[in-house]
Amino acid sequence: MPNFDKTGQIISLSQKRRQKHSMMKKGGMPQPQARVIAITSGKGGVGKTNIVANLGYALCKAGKRVLIFDADLGLGNLDVLLGLTPQYNLSHVIEGKKKLSEIIISGPGSLKILPASSGIQELTKLTFSQKFEIFNKLNELLSGYDIVLIDTAAGISSNVLYFNAAASEIMVVVTPEPTSITDAYALMKILSVKYQEKHFRLLVNLAKNAKEAEDVSRQLCLVANRFLDVSIEYFGNVLVDDNVKVGVRKQKVVSEIAPMTQASRNFAELAHKLARSKPMIPRSENRPLIWQDIV
Ligand SMILES: Nc1ncnc2c1ncn2[C@@H]1O[C@H](COP(=O)(O)OP(=O)(O)O)[C@@H](O)[C@H]1O
Ligand SMILES: [Mg+2]
Repeated sequence: MPNFDKTGQIISLSQKRRQKHSMMKKGGMPQPQARVIAITSGKGGVGKTNIVANLGYALCKAGKRVLIFDADLGLGNLDVLLGLTPQYNLSHVIEGKKKLSEIIISGPGSLKILPASSGIQELTKLTFSQKFEIFNKLNELLSGYDIVLIDTAAGISSNVLYFNAAASEIMVVVTPEPTSITDAYALMKILSVKYQEKHFRLLVNLAKNAKEAEDVSRQLCLVANRFLDVSIEYFGNVLVDDNVKVGVRKQKVVSEIAPMTQASRNFAELAHKLARSKPMIPRSENRPLIWQDIV
């Protein structure tokens, strides 16, 4: 998540480092920061919400403090997937009726969930103070978590691009469908060209087997390496497993109701890999970020 100064500008990494340095010089300890990972896709229906819920649950089981943020502001459905009925959501924060910390609810395991709003469509329509309230307060919450997973909407709308640019790591979800592969490419292209995002992790969902998942990754990497100035790391896969759909119908994460099934084992492996992995390379130091430009 970006930090903001008093004028609303995002504080660059070099500024953050200077602040951290001066804090340490003064004897203060820098606050531990959560890793903020956007789970995103070009095409919709590739499994993002199920991945966020299951990966979040598996990360909790691995001992991590996890917050999941439903950032599909128009059509958020993480709460429904988890069988939760939040009384308040982001729209109450925007209207000034609730604080961000007051709308967070508990899910399965020790998972914490920040429910999406039902009313807002585009962040661009929010005022400065509304955006400031959301993102600065979110920054303040980060010290209470190890990992924040953002469930973005699909596509290349301003909200999707914003949340990807604001996250410190981006995981692109893709399936073997050709349209999913081309849409993932288009998303990485726009994030690279317009927002200087150069590093992506790839998670292949709904493949029949590991070989098919690796083929999808190879195909995408080949084109991206040729035409885009980005690096892509194949992070792993979740295979097709009808138990995921059973979980959706029961409004429970499959990792909770069927921990030994194929998809649950995939989620557990991915969670351990993510927990062990180093945070991705930070954004370029000289990147002048003005948050109004991003939104
Ligand atoms: N690994 C999987 N195996 C079987 N079905 C899956 C798997 N992942 C997702 N699905 C199904 O795909 C559909 C879309 O998933 P969802 O998480 O809502 O996608 P998105 O958030 O990307 O729109 C759901 O019906 C879900 O049950
Ligand atoms: Mg979704």
